[in-house]
Amino acid sequence: MARDEKLVSSVVEAIGNTPLVELARLTRNLGGRLLAKLEYLNPGFSKKDRIARQIIEDAEADGTLQPGQTVVELTSGNTGTGLAIVCGVKGYPFVAVMSRGNSPERARMMSALGAEVVLVDQLPGSKPGQVSGGDLELVEQEAQRIVKEQGAFRADQFHHHGNFNAHHLHTGPEILRQAGTTIDAFCDFVGTGGTFAGCAAALKEANPATRCYVVEPKGAAILAGEPVTNPNHRIQGGGYSMCDLTFVKPEYVDGYLQVGDQEAVEVARKLAREEGIFSGFSSGANVAAALQLLQEPFKARAVVTILNDSGLKYLSTDLFQ
Ligand SMILES: Cc1ncc(COP(=O)(O)O)c(C=O)c1O
Repeated sequence: MARDEKLVSSVVEAIGNTPLVELARLTRNLGGRLLAKLEYLNPGFSKKDRIARQIIEDAEADGTLQPGQTVVELTSGNTGTGLAIVCGVKGYPFVAVMSRGNSPERARMMSALGAEVVLVDQLPGSKPGQVSGGDLELVEQEAQRIVKEQGAFRADQFHHHGNFNAHHLHTGPEILRQAGTTIDAFCDFVGTGGTFAGCAAALKEANPATRCYVVEPKGAAILAGEPVTNPNHRIQGGGYSMCDLTFVKPEYVDGYLQVGDQEAVEVARKLAREEGIFSGFSSGANVAAALQLLQEPFKARAVVTILNDSGLKYLSTDLFQ
């Protein structure tokens, strides 16, 4: 069902069914096709609205979330915004636990949506805008403390199967319905890996020849088996240098791509200027990686990627200065 075809009873039902757009201006000298899923058009301006809805609805269905129970989650801002929306509509108090290193727009938006936001200091030496795996470990400890203290439901995006389900049942099948062409390759920048794994599973079920690539920051490509020399990269939402991600199973991964901070920034700016697409650092990384694939080994073929969140979430950074 297209998003504009019927009245919906709440904004939760307006999550998903985002457009798939051909980036024909960026590929004009390449020959291949680059298709991008505009996830920043979700109600919370990111793809993470999808997992917020799926985790909460799966937990309602299996009884692990009780009516009125508090929900807690560690977030880089986007999952928290999705949960603030879903919990607000459904009547669950929500506590978002986030590193002070993530952009302040995110905390403000979650508060506006009714969430209680707990900010956790970064490790000594970490810089704002550069949240490392070590910083995230501190956020995890605080989230666990609050869950215990409040007897809360932990949304647990790194492990709850709703994360994978959201993309396996929805994002991936939407791409398949929308593409109108054989999809030769798919790539996605990995945080929890839920989007990568869920979409890869759906795409490979439809066509086992579709090749799926994990995107990581240059200098923090731990899944590719590279040494981590730059844990404090600028691509917010992933690249946490965690090697055991629940959802990223070997059967989904055909290869690994790396994108540097500056390349992600330049491509995000190009997306805005040439395609009219206002998205963030990780979307720039995804498109940069897809362009690598279209140069080689997918010359003149079709590559799909995800535009994860809105550029509005980065106005306090130098992304668009
Ligand atoms: C902006 C952004 N990009 C990419 C990701 C990574 O997505 P996933 O957790 O599905 O791997 C996230 C996750 O929070 C994100 O917020």
